[in-house]
Amino acid sequence: MSNVAELKVDGKSYELPIIEGSEKERAIDISKLRAQSGLITIDPGFKNTGSTTSSITFLDGEQGILRYRGYSIEDLAEKSSFLEVAYLLIYGVLPKKDEFDTFKRDITTHTLVHEDIKKILDGFPSNSHPMGTLSSLVCSLTAFYPESLDPNRSWEATNMSIIRILAKMPTFAAWAYKNEVGHPVNYPDNSLDYCSNFLKMMFALPAEQYDVDPVVADALDKLLILHADHEQNCSASTVRIVGSSKASLYASVSAGINALWGPLHGGANQAVIEMLENIKADGGDVKKYIDKAKDKDDSFRLMGFGHRVYKNFDPRARIIKKAADDVLSKLGVQDPVLDIAKGLEEAALNDDYFVERKLYPNVDFYSGIIYRAMGIPTEMFTVMFALGRLPGWIAQWKEMRENNEPIGRPRQIYVGSNQRTYPSIDER
Ligand code: CMC
Repeated sequence: MSNVAELKVDGKSYELPIIEGSEKERAIDISKLRAQSGLITIDPGFKNTGSTTSSITFLDGEQGILRYRGYSIEDLAEKSSFLEVAYLLIYGVLPKKDEFDTFKRDITTHTLVHEDIKKILDGFPSNSHPMGTLSSLVCSLTAFYPESLDPNRSWEATNMSIIRILAKMPTFAAWAYKNEVGHPVNYPDNSLDYCSNFLKMMFALPAEQYDVDPVVADALDKLLILHADHEQNCSASTVRIVGSSKASLYASVSAGINALWGPLHGGANQAVIEMLENIKADGGDVKKYIDKAKDKDDSFRLMGFGHRVYKNFDPRARIIKKAADDVLSKLGVQDPVLDIAKGLEEAALNDDYFVERKLYPNVDFYSGIIYRAMGIPTEMFTVMFALGRLPGWIAQWKEMRENNEPIGRPRQIYVGSNQRTYPSIDER
């Protein structure tokens, strides 16, 4: 196979190198194209554009493969834990026992947040969407740890920022919820594991005994693993591009949280449950909503369906669908919305519109059903996604810094007015 592509424009020919990844994926390297020819490429939504080489996550959308650092998502979901996966993504290898013990101890040590952060939290009105609160609290860490502002300061300082954000994110996430419902916050309980501590901060009430249900904690751990990274998606690309200006880890992750919020990305899990609820309230007529989704004059889309890269199946959705059945039966929850979800999936998978466009359930189609069974309120679903995606964002940011990547700055083709004369206000 050739390692050079030839581009012919206006009778001139340009040679462009072809690079190949470890899984034999090939790309035409156009990084010198503009210097050679004056031309740029255009690709709205970056559907065909690789922004980097990366050794974190491999994804094959045609075959439904997802691997973190070479390990399959199926293996990791079954055999690993969220914190071990976080270590793997961030540091590139599975930890040895002593390394893992130190990592867990470091994270546990830093779960508490500065008391002044409560004052910031108090400034948010009740009913604030917890995603907005979460991104603000994460960014506020820049003020409490100013040494984090310089990402080139030292490896130790960067690592400290990494540990701190991993440790404090569950506290922020639970506090964002407590603020939304107007309840007093709970402080971290460092005798508990990562997920159990989060659940206790989220659900414990001052006047009641709260014991973490191990079924719920285990299910949460698995969901976080499935969400932990997904290569160059909207939020990871945001984190990398913000970080490419040498903004701090906290500022970059805060931007990633905002990118995740939208319903076409992480916000889809909230949108899925809202959609399923609407279908139920409207009599449960699945076909009516399939028809709406197909109607080009109707803006309705089947939330939780389709994916930019998965064109056969989303491997995470397979694991989650099974987990949803397990968790619901273990918790003894009967959720009519699950039946609507299954009916919708079946109808869509047998409909030409969805088959032709290769639209399959994605990770968010079933995750909301599990979160609901766990008692997590709908508006917190995307916060749960952010909690899971955090190690991925950190790994992407760290890799971008270690590669010393240039500042992200796309070009454009201008299609506005040509130069014109400024008219006075009376001449307009
Ligand atoms: N319902 C109905 N039609 C759809 C849907 C859908 N959910 N998704 C795509 N289509 C159609 C779309 O109208 C278009 O049709 P046509 O070719 O006739 O114009 C075709 O399929 C291709 O869609 P696209 O919008 O060009 O594809 P994309 O790669 O730009 O968008 C997507 C991917 C995930 C944004 C989109 O499928 C979508 O909006 N899905 C619903 C939202 C959702 O579930 N998002 C979560 C993604 S998974 C979590 C994550 O990793 O972020």
